[in-house]
Amino acid sequence: MVNAHPPYMDGCDDILTSLDDSHVLTITINRPKARNALRTQLLHEIAQTLDKATSDDNVRCVVLTGGDKVFAAGADITEMADKTSVGVLQDPRANHWRTIRDFPKPMIAAVNGFCLGGGNELAMHCDILIAGKNAQFGQPEINLGIIPGAGGTQRLTAMIGKSKAMRLVLSGEFLSAEDAERAGLVSEVCEPELTLEKATALARKIASKAPVAARLAKESVLKASDGLLAEGIAFERKAFALLFATDDKSEGVSAFMEKRKPNFKGH
Ligand code: CAA
Repeated sequence: MVNAHPPYMDGCDDILTSLDDSHVLTITINRPKARNALRTQLLHEIAQTLDKATSDDNVRCVVLTGGDKVFAAGADITEMADKTSVGVLQDPRANHWRTIRDFPKPMIAAVNGFCLGGGNELAMHCDILIAGKNAQFGQPEINLGIIPGAGGTQRLTAMIGKSKAMRLVLSGEFLSAEDAERAGLVSEVCEPELTLEKATALARKIASKAPVAARLAKESVLKASDGLLAEGIAFERKAFALLFATDDKSEGVSAFMEKRKPNFKGH
């Protein structure tokens, strides 16, 4: 990606950051070889950048993208291999997710390609989703013997309804961009090469509005659901941690890394 502006945040390896003259901060997830898998360092870099942007009046709206081909294929599964239940409970990732959740300014996801697991949860932390026709949304954690752990079961259900959310979470199937738009997960579908352009144009429009009103508008809209989700998100997190004590989680993660089908036993 050609970047006319200097990096907004120095010292990042996994993301690119740039602030334009219209007060729009663009964060590009940049681990193409691992399908933009959200390793802990990457989540930390996003959280740090949002932390800086929170108190920077020059930033009025954020666009979060994974580039042309993939938004993010979820948590980095290689990091999950040796993680225990206690490790999940003590995981610094929870703090990074909290920072992302609490970011008070409008944030738009520009999604192309796979948007899976923690990647879909990250997109759902954004306030508006714009998707390229090649986008595919899913919560395939069940294939690893686990469940979503960053609010996916709750936010997805709030956004697309129980039956469709159950289907994605229980079967690991993906939702196409068109189906995601019909279901209410995304606000617009476009040609993949236009996704970032459209998200940026919308972000510039939002950035031209009164910043305090925009923040309070975001906070108000979130009040319609976030408070109701809090208990479910806490439950999901504990269930997610518990599943890290199962043999099926070890089997699911090993099978992914060995590129074979898992053989789940129920313990
Ligand atoms: N973590 C780590 N590495 C990943 C990854 C992930 N989530 N997704 C893909 N990769 C790696 C692959 O291991 C592979 O590495 P090598 O080249 O070294 O073999 C590389 O990226 C390319 O992947 P594929 O060859 O599989 O590419 P593909 O185009 O055929 O398939 C895909 C893409 C459908 C995204 C497939 O890679 C896939 O299913 N990935 C896993 C998706 C998933 O299960 N996500 C949920 C993770 S758990 C989670 O997200 C929980 C949470 O946050 C709380």
